[in-house]
Amino acid sequence: MKRSITSLVMMALLAISLVSLFVACEKKDDQIVIGANIYTFADNFMNGVMKPELESYAAGKGVRIEIVDSEGQQAKLNDQVDVFITRKVDVLVINLVDPAAAGTIIAKAKAAGIPLVLFNKEATERGVMASYDYVWYVGTNSAESGIIQGQMMVADWRANPTWDRNADGIVQYVLLKGEPGHPDAEARTVESVRAFVDAGLQVEQLALEADPNWSTQHGNDKMAAWLTSSFGNRIELVICNNDGMAFGAINALKAAGVSLPIYGVDALDQALTHIADGEMNGTVLNDGVNQSRAALDLAINAAMGLSVTEGTRWTLSTDGSKAVRVPYLPVTPSNYQEFRN
Ligand code: GAL
Ligand code: CA
Repeated sequence: MKRSITSLVMMALLAISLVSLFVACEKKDDQIVIGANIYTFADNFMNGVMKPELESYAAGKGVRIEIVDSEGQQAKLNDQVDVFITRKVDVLVINLVDPAAAGTIIAKAKAAGIPLVLFNKEATERGVMASYDYVWYVGTNSAESGIIQGQMMVADWRANPTWDRNADGIVQYVLLKGEPGHPDAEARTVESVRAFVDAGLQVEQLALEADPNWSTQHGNDKMAAWLTSSFGNRIELVICNNDGMAFGAINALKAAGVSLPIYGVDALDQALTHIADGEMNGTVLNDGVNQSRAALDLAINAAMGLSVTEGTRWTLSTDGSKAVRVPYLPVTPSNYQEFRN
């Protein structure tokens, strides 16, 4: 009797160890695997700042990250997420192509039981972040960038009376807008202009053109066309939702031999060089390095089943948006040196 109990225990122990061996075999190793994307590798800021930081920060943390190019197509991203899910990644770090399509991605992650960190393009559908306990957002407070850009422009406008070329006291501006419907593009467009109105200055919009890809080509083409249009010689200020489009506009201005005040957002290295060369008047730091780090810190914690901000320096906003918002900073001719890498 005694012997059979012992052998039963032995058999049970053997069974347990076989099961754990099987479980261990199923998952090759215990390295965390992150499935990530960038909405398009053609985007200066996403490809030049966020992607390299996501890669190097992941390497430093000993986690594996795979970043795919969604080529500006939400349908492509949907398929890429399906593939990540089939391959059982531990966590998804997703840059929406269409900010209105968050619900689709969240539903996929939820059905698969995989935690999800959205970054850079905030979901625009109401209530969608509450539809899954394991989804968070890492980005910025979009309005802040427009407010900072606007205040910078107002201060410079006041300090430079000759910028009012026709001396009518009104700011005649053109605006290069990013992706329509993108919270950053919408907020920057509104807030940058509102700053003048709030400061008691009158504004007149001569032209506004949007580009879903926030591209340098768009900036160049639109600026070139505006300069030769009927209002070409009335333009007093060029407002750009990002640096990439400003670079194109600077190119067009140079080609036409015209010099106008011009402002961007992102603080890319090339923008700092343009500021140093007196070809750009200011930009706003979009802190992609810290946004990348925050996205990965949250993702890694989520993959480990921890509370997402545990042991990190990030805090979730208290407004129910489940977001970590990294602050923007003004970058001007007097402080741009501090932002050089
Ligand atoms: C913004 C950035 C733009 C563009 C966009 C893509 O935050 O300022 O340059 O990269 O994200 O979603
Ligand atoms: Ca004027």
